[in-house]
Amino acid sequence: MAGKKYGLDLGTMNIRIFQGGHGLVVYEKNMIAIQRKKEVAAIGNDAFEMYERTPASIVISNPVRDGVIADINNMNKVAEALLKKCGCTSGFMRNNSFYLAAPSDVTEVEKRAYFDLIAHSAYNTHNIFVIEKPLAAALGENINVMSKKGMMLVDMGAGTTEITVITMGGIVVSKLLKMGGNTINAAICQFVKERHHLVIGDKTAEALKIELGHAIPGRGKQKRVFGRDLITGLPANVEVADHLVFDALKDYLFQVVKTIRNIMETIPPELSADIIESGIYFTGGTTLIPELDRLFSASLHVKTVFADKPLESTAKGLGVIMDHASDYRELTFSLRDAAFE
Ligand SMILES: Nc1ncnc2c1ncn2[C@@H]1O[C@H](COP(=O)(O)OP(=O)(O)OP(=O)(O)O)[C@@H](O)[C@H]1O
Ligand SMILES: [Mg+2]
Repeated sequence: MAGKKYGLDLGTMNIRIFQGGHGLVVYEKNMIAIQRKKEVAAIGNDAFEMYERTPASIVISNPVRDGVIADINNMNKVAEALLKKCGCTSGFMRNNSFYLAAPSDVTEVEKRAYFDLIAHSAYNTHNIFVIEKPLAAALGENINVMSKKGMMLVDMGAGTTEITVITMGGIVVSKLLKMGGNTINAAICQFVKERHHLVIGDKTAEALKIELGHAIPGRGKQKRVFGRDLITGLPANVEVADHLVFDALKDYLFQVVKTIRNIMETIPPELSADIIESGIYFTGGTTLIPELDRLFSASLHVKTVFADKPLESTAKGLGVIMDHASDYRELTFSLRDAAFE
């Protein structure tokens, strides 16, 4: 029986699974809830539902931190449960193939964890391929990564922002900033605490970011949020203005602009000329902040191209690689490649 192919994009916040011939079959929160230190209470979106409302006996965590697998045991549990949802079970089906996207600017040990995740599971397969995430994201956006022309891709996720220059199927420069949407949420929590003496949870900060977040300030909108008064300890609510949310995102956006500029200044002029001609490509959930294109093109003086479905680019690109495995063989590392022996 011919094996099935699965592509996994394990993000800090979201996990996406692409199945050959089917498309995107899983899109859930990359989270696990553990009860009494060992029993799995919930996985994925179900764990996210419980987040910030559980008793002390249940601990909820993200197995991927800062873009890399930090907790392989729990990552294994999440991946197995979600793969099961799309019909991929362990045991005798040895022919299944797994394609995993890993950040490029990480250590060999961190990359190795992507192989171990499947190799040490019950899937009983050696068909494990690791692809550098920016290459997968670029393919997902229909960018010809094999072209001689250089291109730049910026993936603004939850835990990371990865800025990469690609040419001829290879990565020239990759810089992984350990900041993203989560950094903005943390700054929102901090500013609401400092300015309104209100302690809010991460879900409330996320709602403020989605409703009031804007790359260009000055709309004058506000939103009422609930939390705990820092002084009395009692439940309280306040109106938060959009300029607080802008203050919380501007440092992060400034860092991204600064890093892109540094990279543009250090790469060979031929490559920067190619990038100026094609524009800089942006993807990842954090690019959904409204008017980010205006801010970036004004501060970088370069055309910007934003993905239509930025939460899905990497998973879609894994699908492209799976469907054209022989064309893109050189983009993938397998267990047999010397780098991972
Ligand atoms: N409308 C929106 N406005 C602003 N941010 C958004 C919006 N929708 C989603 N996000 C943010 O996008 C992030 C999730 O994006 P994505 O799924 O690309 O990250 P990830 O792949 O899980 O993380 P990483 O790539 O860093 O490991 C979250 O921080 C979320 O708050
Ligand atoms: Mg991601």
